[in-house]
Amino acid sequence: MSISIPQLPKGTRDFYPEAERIQNYIFDTWRRVAESFAYEEYEGPMFEHLELYTGKSGEEIVSQLYNFKDKGDREIALRPEMTPTLARLVIQKARELKKPFKWFSMPRLFRYEKAQKGRLREFFQLNMDIIGTESIYAEADLMAAIATMLRKFGLKDGEFAIGVSSRKLLATYLEEIGAPNPALVYPVLDRRLKIGPEAFAKALADAGLTEDQVKKLDDFMSCKSIEEVKTKVHSENATAALAEIEDLFATLTAAGYGECVNLDLSIVRGLAYYTGIVFEVFDKGKSMRAIAGGGRYDSLTEKLGGERIPGVGFGMGDVVLADLLAEHKLLPSPKQSVDFYIASFTNDMKKVFETAQAFRAGGNTVAHPLAAMKMGKQLDQANYQGAKIVVYVDGSKAAAGEFEYKDMRTGEMFVGNSEAIVERLKA
Ligand code: HAM
Repeated sequence: MSISIPQLPKGTRDFYPEAERIQNYIFDTWRRVAESFAYEEYEGPMFEHLELYTGKSGEEIVSQLYNFKDKGDREIALRPEMTPTLARLVIQKARELKKPFKWFSMPRLFRYEKAQKGRLREFFQLNMDIIGTESIYAEADLMAAIATMLRKFGLKDGEFAIGVSSRKLLATYLEEIGAPNPALVYPVLDRRLKIGPEAFAKALADAGLTEDQVKKLDDFMSCKSIEEVKTKVHSENATAALAEIEDLFATLTAAGYGECVNLDLSIVRGLAYYTGIVFEVFDKGKSMRAIAGGGRYDSLTEKLGGERIPGVGFGMGDVVLADLLAEHKLLPSPKQSVDFYIASFTNDMKKVFETAQAFRAGGNTVAHPLAAMKMGKQLDQANYQGAKIVVYVDGSKAAAGEFEYKDMRTGEMFVGNSEAIVERLKA
C-alpha cells in the first residue's frame, strides 16, 4: 500500500527561508513607511464571531468566509479582512481613544477564493486607517503613504497609479438620473469592466434601470477629468463631492504626489461599508489585480452597534505587490548572508563557540560548523551561508590575541585582532 505524502492546501503558501526573507523585506518596508507617517501598530485575533462580517462587509466577502462552529457551538469565521476587527476595537474603547488616530496592522487573512494569479486563500495585507476625522486630508495622508511606500520599493511614478472615485458622487449621480435601488446597483457597477458592456447593461436592467439610465451611467463612469464630470452633475451634493476631490488632488500635487493619483470613476469597490472617497491602486497597464484598495467608511461603527465614528483606510496585499516587484526586478536577493563564519583547522569546537559568542556580543551575525569537518567543507558552508569574513581560530600565522581571516568578498587573507576584523567587515 502506498501512503500519499501530505499536500499543501490550495491557495496557501509555504515560506521556506528564501521566500520568508523576501516576505520580511516587504513587512519591514511596510512597517518602516507606516511608522514614518506616525501610524501606530495594532493587532487582533485571527478569528472573530461570524456575525461581525455577515451583513456588513458585502456579499462577495461573506460568500468567501472560512467559517465553522467551535466546540462551544459558537459561529466563528477566520478573518477575511481587518476593517471589522478595527471597528470592534474602536467601539470598545470609543471614549478612551484620543481622536483622530492613525493605526496600521499587517494581518494574515483568509478568503475562500478561486486561487489564481494575485488571489490566494491565505495572504497578508497591510492596513492603514485613520479614525475619528471626516477631513479629506486623512485621505491625502493615506495616499501619500501609499505613494511613498511604492517608491520605497523602487517603483517609479507612472509605474503605478492611485485611481480615485467617490461613493458620494456616484450616489448623487444615481439620484440625479432617478436610478432606483442604489444598493443593488453598486455591486453591478463594481463589476462593470470585468463583465463587459452587454452583461453590464443586462445586470443593470435586472436592477430596474432603463436603457437611457444605463447609457448615462456608463458615460459617467468613463469620465476622465473633474471638468468633464462637472458637465454631467449639478446638485449641491455632487458639487461638494467634486470640490473635495479637487482639494485632495491639489494637496497631493503640492506634496509632490501629483503624478501618482488620477480620477477613475470606474472604481466602486465591492465592500458594502464605504460612504465617501474610494480608491484602488493599480500597476501602470492595469495588467494585474489591484495592489491595494480602500476608502472612507463613516458609519461602520454605527452599523456594528456603536456610536458613529468616521474612518478611512486601505488594505495592500502582499501577493500582487510581490508579483509586481518581481516583474520589475525589485526584490532583494533571497540568499542568506552572515557577517562571520568561525572556522577551525583542528576542529577545536570550544574555541569556535567561544569566538563566535565574542563576535555576536558585538552585534554581528555569526555562523560556524556544528561538527568536526575538513577545512574545505567549512569553507563550502561559509559560502553557502553568505559569510563575508571567515575567521580561523587556530591559523598558524596569528600571534596571541590575533586571528587569520579571509575576506570572502575579495579573497584576500589578513592577520589581526578582533577590532581589525570588525573594521574590515565595514570595508
Ligand atoms: P479589499 O479590496 O478586499 O479591501 O482588499 C485590499 C487588497 O488586498 C486588494 O487590493 C489585494 O491586493 C489584496 N487582496 C484581497 N483579496 C486577496 C486575495 N484573496 N489574495 C491576495 N490578495 C488579496 C479590504 O480588504 C478592505 N478591508 C481594505 C480597507 C481597509 N478599507 C478600509 N480600510
